[in-house]
Amino acid sequence: MAYETLKSYVLKGDICYSKSPTELCSIKNGYVVCVDGKSKGVFAELPDEYTLYPIFDYTDKLIIPGMVDIHIHAPQFSFRGTGMDLELMDWLASKTFPEEAKYYDLEYAEKAYRIFVDSLVKSATTHACIFATKHREATEKLMELMEESGLISYVGKVNMDREAPEVLCEENPTIASRDTALWIENTLNKYERTKPILTPRFIPCCSVELLTKLSELQEKYDLPVQSHLSENHKEIAFVKEVMPKAKFYGDAYDLYGLFGEQLKSNKKVKTIMAHSVYSIDEEVEKMKENCVFVAHCPTSNTNLSSGIAPIRKYLSIGLKVGLGSDVAGGHTESMFQTLCSAVQVSKLYWCLKDNSKPNLSFKEAFYLATIGGGEFFGKVGSFDLGYDFTAVILDDSLVRRPFELAIEGRLEGAVYSSLDLFGIKGKFVLDKKII
Ligand code: GUN
Ligand code: FE
Repeated sequence: MAYETLKSYVLKGDICYSKSPTELCSIKNGYVVCVDGKSKGVFAELPDEYTLYPIFDYTDKLIIPGMVDIHIHAPQFSFRGTGMDLELMDWLASKTFPEEAKYYDLEYAEKAYRIFVDSLVKSATTHACIFATKHREATEKLMELMEESGLISYVGKVNMDREAPEVLCEENPTIASRDTALWIENTLNKYERTKPILTPRFIPCCSVELLTKLSELQEKYDLPVQSHLSENHKEIAFVKEVMPKAKFYGDAYDLYGLFGEQLKSNKKVKTIMAHSVYSIDEEVEKMKENCVFVAHCPTSNTNLSSGIAPIRKYLSIGLKVGLGSDVAGGHTESMFQTLCSAVQVSKLYWCLKDNSKPNLSFKEAFYLATIGGGEFFGKVGSFDLGYDFTAVILDDSLVRRPFELAIEGRLEGAVYSSLDLFGIKGKFVLDKKII
């Protein structure tokens, strides 16, 4: 393995992390301690009990928890930043599906996925929820590469059986189920950091028969679920047409036990739904009741002219929210850009749609990019005691200024300057130093 393994260690530098949506803590020349992959907290002076651990001295550099990207498409990384003049359905048909169709070719898949994984390693992201394609072998290759990287992820073989080129559609629901079960069996217990997640692409691409089969697999293997929800007007109209029984878009997943915790059956189906730009009240209530996570993907929602998700409203009623780059609807894997965009579109929402509630602040968006999405993985995204330890080191002297700034300002400046794309100076994930 390329990375260094360390049971316990200490990082020294200018530390900044969230405690809650409104509390961003910082400490200059502080210490943060990792023991057996868990944070022991942040200290102004290093307690005696930790002085024998290896210390990485990042004096004058920023130390933050890793970013958590809860919605990204690995096979779309290849065409990121192109085709950005299209809306969702045309973009899927003309850019996305033709590229995803190439992943039947394992050699191509490996080449493309290596580029994706290398880029993710170099980014500030330490945890990710990833869509692959419908191809089982290529998805297994992606999982192998992700595990080697030391990053932590859920990866989904995509399921789809209609409204797409034949080569991307499962032959029939029975074959889909068999192939998906084989993928699950092959990967469920194979890796420490890389786990399978059930991934129906979205309702327009999934027949009732396919959803029924996926529901059975979910029950059998107790898998989490990821998909897309209420992203675009045309998409929502199509779902109404093809799923007349569903009371709202999300109900089409809920009818098959693929929409969060099922109170009736007492089943906990950990679920992420990307977008929720146009979720109606009933849908939002159901998401809250079922503890469904919203992956807010502001760069994607802007690029694909989808709209602006009402994240302030979701937070105020207690929905679980994290951020997603949604590459390649989102043009970049940079979670710093995603985080900025979350603040920016929230300001547009404030001035164009509803100025009765404040826009998201930088602090809140930073919280969403770390602890917010981190909750899907457990206790992830902070340096508080007991959190799974991740850290990213930034040299923000690259963002030159003629005056000194406090740490919070330095972090905000680094994030708005997309410093994560300019080369991070260190990256730690549990007991591994991966950069
Ligand atoms: N809905 C269904 N598939 C996709 C996709 O690949 N990207 C986005 N943004 N939305 C989708
Ligand atoms: Fe997506």
